[in-house]
Amino acid sequence: MHPVQGRFPAFRPRRLRRGPAIRALVSESTLSPSDLIWPIFVRAGEDVEEPVPSMPGVVRRSIDRVVHAAREAADLGIPAVCLFPYTGAEDRSADCAEAWNPDNLSNRATRAIKDAVPHLAVMTDVALDPYSDTGHDGFVRGDEIVNDATVEALVKQALSQAEAGVDIIGPSDMMDGRIGAIRAALEDAGHSHVVLLSYAAKYASAFYGPFRDAVGASGALKGDKKTYQMDPANTDEALRLVARDLDEGADMVMVKPGMPYLDICRRVKDAFGTPTFAYQVSGEYAMIQAAVQNGWLDGERAMMESLMAFKRAGCDGILTYFAPQAARRMAAHG
Ligand code: PBG
Repeated sequence: MHPVQGRFPAFRPRRLRRGPAIRALVSESTLSPSDLIWPIFVRAGEDVEEPVPSMPGVVRRSIDRVVHAAREAADLGIPAVCLFPYTGAEDRSADCAEAWNPDNLSNRATRAIKDAVPHLAVMTDVALDPYSDTGHDGFVRGDEIVNDATVEALVKQALSQAEAGVDIIGPSDMMDGRIGAIRAALEDAGHSHVVLLSYAAKYASAFYGPFRDAVGASGALKGDKKTYQMDPANTDEALRLVARDLDEGADMVMVKPGMPYLDICRRVKDAFGTPTFAYQVSGEYAMIQAAVQNGWLDGERAMMESLMAFKRAGCDGILTYFAPQAARRMAAHG
């Protein structure tokens, strides 16, 4: 392998593992709170924190509680939060108009956070699933999730988020051409500073199940998302999608889910050297928490190991529901 490497006993790799000081010196990857983006579920009401049953430890927060969480994130050194609205049937319609309502839950939460904690970056999700009566990320005509009409709606949604003051827009819808359309509209409207973090390689995954409970989409969703989200069998396709989204104006790209797709993270980072994020999704979080609740895993260690795996695979950062817990642990352990 490496001819310069001596042979036993000259080469005793355990020398470099003997104690924490030496191990720290030779550690190849690092994890810090500044690598984390914290996804937060926003709901209506005041002073409410409502547990999400399939995601132990995760709650849906009213906007005042979201602001509280945003302060906590900033205090912990977490640079960004990502907002997901929990919507009821009354917010869902065939035309999805609530998606670009300047006063929808997501936009009100954005303004409240930017007022209270201006230096914390706010990221939002662009996709129609919280607002559509079908639970799909786009408009449905017959059996088809239509692309181009959806992109027009996504542009309106993105512009309303930019108006509300978001720093990062994350299109998670997987329609074709949306990055270029959103980028052009943002430039035209004077929002040239808004960062686009494209969910470029997003797979049609079973691991989103608990999230759909958390945002109230499980009951609404008819069918599956396989005509727009990627086939888990594919990897070259992920590189083509990343190339396309960068070409259309994405600043950063995402691979989603995370842990089952670390090979994609590594290939994307090696091929493009662009800021690369992974989303440790709801099902990954739920699996670890379920094992912890059964006494089958040491939760803190499993959490930190799972997060380090993303850094080792070449990611610059991770969207994770563990963000505050992991940041607190890093503060305690240095
Ligand atoms: C929807 C969206 C999903 C997630 C983020 N945005 C679910 C889906 O595509 O059905 C999943 C996040 C998670 O599972 O934690 N646009």
